[in-house]
Amino acid sequence: MATDAFNQKDILEEKRLINGPAVSVNQLMPLKYRWAWEHYLNGCANHWMPNEVPMASDIELWRSNRLSEAERLVIMRNLGFFATAESLVGNNLVLAIFKHITNAECRQYLLRQAFEEAVHTHAFLYIVESLGLDEREVFTMYHRIPAIQRKDAFEMKLTYALLDPTFSTAEPEQAQQFLDNLIGYYVIMEGIFFYSGFAMILSFHRRNLMTGIGQQFQYILRDETIHLNFGIDLINGIKVENPDLWTPEFERHIMELIEEAVELEIAYAYDCLPEGIAGLHAPAFARYVRHIADRRLERIGLPAVYHEPHPFPWLSETIDLSKEKNFFETRVTEYRSAATLEWD
Ligand SMILES: [Fe+2]
Ligand SMILES: [Fe+2]
Repeated sequence: MATDAFNQKDILEEKRLINGPAVSVNQLMPLKYRWAWEHYLNGCANHWMPNEVPMASDIELWRSNRLSEAERLVIMRNLGFFATAESLVGNNLVLAIFKHITNAECRQYLLRQAFEEAVHTHAFLYIVESLGLDEREVFTMYHRIPAIQRKDAFEMKLTYALLDPTFSTAEPEQAQQFLDNLIGYYVIMEGIFFYSGFAMILSFHRRNLMTGIGQQFQYILRDETIHLNFGIDLINGIKVENPDLWTPEFERHIMELIEEAVELEIAYAYDCLPEGIAGLHAPAFARYVRHIADRRLERIGLPAVYHEPHPFPWLSETIDLSKEKNFFETRVTEYRSAATLEWD
């Protein structure tokens, strides 16, 4: 008997996040995971390009003597970290994640996200060119600066197994390795490692300094908020589809990964802020990193461990977690284009 290729019930059953049949990967409709499509539409509604952002005031300030050496160090470290971290995320997405996600609406989102990561790498090159910085210095910092190198090495360690052409998520142990990678990139890289950089750069923007870079970071932050939300929905969706993967041992292992990442990020904050600058000091960043790590743990169903209050009240107006929640709930039409970047 011929089967109905568009039998809603069968298709929806077949559409799995991982380990689904190869054929349904090409069938977008009917949607099973509407959240994936919503994230895709939100990403498209945020379209922006780096060279739309005017950089004249940044160039003038950078050439002046009005920035201290400590301020220049914070800016340079963050340019150096993000310039390669964005490519690391993009490559992991395309080479390690994409192949193993068998749901068409999630793949549609991943294609959009991959483009956005390319835009972010472009943004760092645009900043380097605008300020007349040494490209080599910025784009090789991940080799030369131990605090950056350790964060990147932590991430790359979570990619290696997946690059083996024979890797498959069919067996539970490998499916857990795949979850390690998703948590390592979406929750840790985009959800923890990026956020102290956002906070440091946005603190300049708040003081009306380096506002072009600040605006680029606000656009990147807006994209990354959706990346993080998609990643959390994906991880929690895989958990619902495969409850046997989420064992107490696996939970302990994830907690350890996140605790290790928190230490790396705190070391990075001390490296960026050896003396501190106006309103920004490394010990406060250590508290901030622990605070956001707890929020990330909670969103993947794990208990908070640090119980730190938010140390930067000003920052919560821009990027706190209730705002992320608003993003998730906000209708697409409320942020239509880069020309209307508004946080409230
Ligand atoms: Fe990015
Ligand atoms: Fe991202």
